[in-house]
Amino acid sequence: MGMLDGKRILITGVLTDASLAFAVARRAQAEGAEIVLSGAGRGLSLTRRTARKLDPAPDVLEIDVTSDDQLAAAGSVLGERWGRLDGLLHAIGFAPPVCLGQGMFAAGWDDVTVALQVSAYSLKALVGAFRPLLEEAGAGGGASVVGLDFDATVAWPLYDWMGVAKAALESLARYLARDLGPRGVRVNLVAAGPVRTMAAKSIPGFPEFEETWRQRAPLGWNVHDADVVARACIALMSDWLPMTTGEVLHVDGGVHAVGS
Ligand SMILES: NC(=O)c1ccc[n+]([C@@H]2O[C@H](COP(=O)([O-])OP(=O)(O)OC[C@H]3O[C@@H](n4cnc5c(N)ncnc54)[C@H](O)[C@@H]3O)[C@@H](O)[C@H]2O)c1
Repeated sequence: MGMLDGKRILITGVLTDASLAFAVARRAQAEGAEIVLSGAGRGLSLTRRTARKLDPAPDVLEIDVTSDDQLAAAGSVLGERWGRLDGLLHAIGFAPPVCLGQGMFAAGWDDVTVALQVSAYSLKALVGAFRPLLEEAGAGGGASVVGLDFDATVAWPLYDWMGVAKAALESLARYLARDLGPRGVRVNLVAAGPVRTMAAKSIPGFPEFEETWRQRAPLGWNVHDADVVARACIALMSDWLPMTTGEVLHVDGGVHAVGS
């Protein structure tokens, strides 16, 4: 018996087979879930190609989180298809290049607003679009929203405005947990250590993170292993953490717990 038997889950953020969301999708299927993916913009065709590496190949919806029309359309499609949504993975992040690696004074509001909208506000936009479906599952035993985070309790080298966006995401997850808990919908984040994905390549200081993890992780850390992150997401989407919400679960080899 799988941990997600009978669950219907929307997984955003699959771009390549290195994406954290791809590891979640593969695990979710192995644990018995029925999944649909979403992709956005120029990456959509790549998401469709990557979907074919999953078995069975899931359908792919177009959801750019900055498009109210696409969010609404996806809500209708899944409403007709499933009638409820047991799980939702938010694996979305983007910041214009000037927001990363150049200190806090290089980027102006026009760029910062993009980083905040796509990387933080999008959790509210996404949850809002599927809220009736999540609440339907919540009434029937529980629904789970999981987002991917990078520990935002401290200032990191070079992460800059993306770090601020992640801090907003952490706060937003707590407020959504407050609002949706009475409807049976849990909202949690997984704060992952560094994994080599497309998004990671766009972070100029990524090798510094790798070095930090090499030196500090009590459990050690493998930057090529997305599956450790995926398994935590699956656990949060399963029925095994029914009283956990508003939580940031660290999957970082223990780095958050130790000083330098
Ligand atoms: N890779 C890491 O080291 C790491 C560590 C901690 C947290 N994270 C987080 O994990 C999440 C997934 O990133 P990843 O590392 O797997 O990289 P990735 O590049 O594979 O995924 C990023 C995803 O964001 C999507 N996206 C960007 N703009 C979008 C928009 N406007 N609308 C909808 N989708 C959009 C992309 O299509 C892509 O699928 C991000 O939130 C990232 O910050 C990554």
